[in-house]
Amino acid sequence: MKTLDVITSNKGKYREYEEKLSSTFVVKMNNVHYPEIQASRLEDVVHHAFEYLEDYVPLMIDDSGLFINRLKGFPGVYSAYVMKTLGCEGILKLMEGEEDRKARFECVIGLFDDEKRLFKGICEGRISTKMRGDMGFGYDPIFIPSGYDFTFAEMETDRKNKISHRGKAMKALLDHLER
Ligand code: IMP
Repeated sequence: MKTLDVITSNKGKYREYEEKLSSTFVVKMNNVHYPEIQASRLEDVVHHAFEYLEDYVPLMIDDSGLFINRLKGFPGVYSAYVMKTLGCEGILKLMEGEEDRKARFECVIGLFDDEKRLFKGICEGRISTKMRGDMGFGYDPIFIPSGYDFTFAEMETDRKNKISHRGKAMKALLDHLER
């Protein structure tokens, strides 16, 4: 079985990769650090990161973010910093009283082997009015995907993977690898 090295320190992300890809690949988590530039697109963050990771090829990296309409796309590419500083509670506070609660998650997977390729997934949804659920990670307790009444944190990993930004990006990656 071919091995896929996912460069991440995020166990939540890794769990989702394992759930979706481990029937086809050996999925390994590699905790090597790389700098994340503050670009305006996730794609640019990934391309920039590739430059620091040449010694670890073949590899995969994942850059994701939560984009809230009413906040003009914030936290977006700043999602990691905002999670550390404001957290889900801070986002709920910023959204207090707002009627337009539309938001989307984006995920860009970068595959770096004999060439560099990006795979993107988007999941539309809305920001809940309070935190709900204890599964998942990050902003999962405040994100309700379109067509559902519960948050990502109230879903098992396999269910989240079927509809999520990362699930869609992984599907595109799998289609490419199996071609
Ligand atoms: P990064 O891709 O590791 O830079 O993630 C940015 C921030 O978004 C981190 O705080 C993650 O915890 C959070 N995040 C990334 N993907 C997800 C997700 O699928 N659900 C909830 N939060 C996420």
